[in-house]
Amino acid sequence: MNLKHILSTQQFLNKNVLLDIFKKADQFEKADRRNKVPKLLRNKILSCIFYEPSTRTRLSFESAMLKLGGQVISTENAGQFSSAIKGETLEDSIRVISGYSDAIVLRHSEANAAKRAAKVSSVPIVNAGDGTGEHPTQALLDLYTIKKEIGRIDNLKIGLVGDLLHGRTIHSLIYLLSLGHAVEIFLVAPRELKLPEHYTSFLNSRAMKFSESDNLESVLPKIDVLYMTRIQKERFSSARLYERVKNSFVLNKKMLKKLGAHAIIMHPLPRVSEISPEVDDDARAAYFRQAKNGLYIRMALLSLLFKNVPPQR
Ligand code: CP
Repeated sequence: MNLKHILSTQQFLNKNVLLDIFKKADQFEKADRRNKVPKLLRNKILSCIFYEPSTRTRLSFESAMLKLGGQVISTENAGQFSSAIKGETLEDSIRVISGYSDAIVLRHSEANAAKRAAKVSSVPIVNAGDGTGEHPTQALLDLYTIKKEIGRIDNLKIGLVGDLLHGRTIHSLIYLLSLGHAVEIFLVAPRELKLPEHYTSFLNSRAMKFSESDNLESVLPKIDVLYMTRIQKERFSSARLYERVKNSFVLNKKMLKKLGAHAIIMHPLPRVSEISPEVDDDARAAYFRQAKNGLYIRMALLSLLFKNVPPQR
């Protein structure tokens, strides 16, 4: 696959390409277990530029780059600790940083920020989450986790639960789920946080079966994958609305009785109150394994991204 930038999962709507990425991730995991990861990215530098907080995405990208023999330069809280605070535009910052590194992983609070960055960058841009837009590398690791845990990406019933309005991991995952045959989606959200029409139109355009409700308990017995998400406090303009919806769905041990024995529970993390810690010991709770899978998917993506990148210096 010729990968210039990673901006949206719409770039990955090819099942064979996806399965190749998953195979690469499997290989990197095996090599990592034997402490034998090939140093494919020696002499390459990755910039991680994060204008919004992150634990998993930034650190797993950095770890992936280091394991592959590359180096990392990084700024967290870039809105405060980079020259953005002095008024520098995203475009100017990216023009400059692309002269210092061979690829840029960018998280930003504005939807389309990664696309804007890609327009002016001389090196590949990876969208690590752009506001309420997309989070493509998360969705790739999510589908990889489903494949690993359940053994297939076809013939699945999946419940997407929580803040579907602001949830960028959901937005990216919706595109990827369209690759599976006979996938049925149960959208579960409070009325105020429903999936934007753009994505339901996409599902309709692909003739995908889906339903919308605000009743989690009625969906639990029907699904193979329960994908919980956080209600994103930082995206609300009304504190009163957030207080009203913040505990709309709280998965606890009692509710697990309604979920199939074969099902898995996923969450992109961080979680707040939507999955009670008592659920963590259940064998179906896959969210920490999911976070670990992010390392191997990002190793696979970096190896692809750098395949065609000539040395900068
Ligand atoms: N899932 C995810 O994007 O987590 P972080 O915000 O910690 O990177």
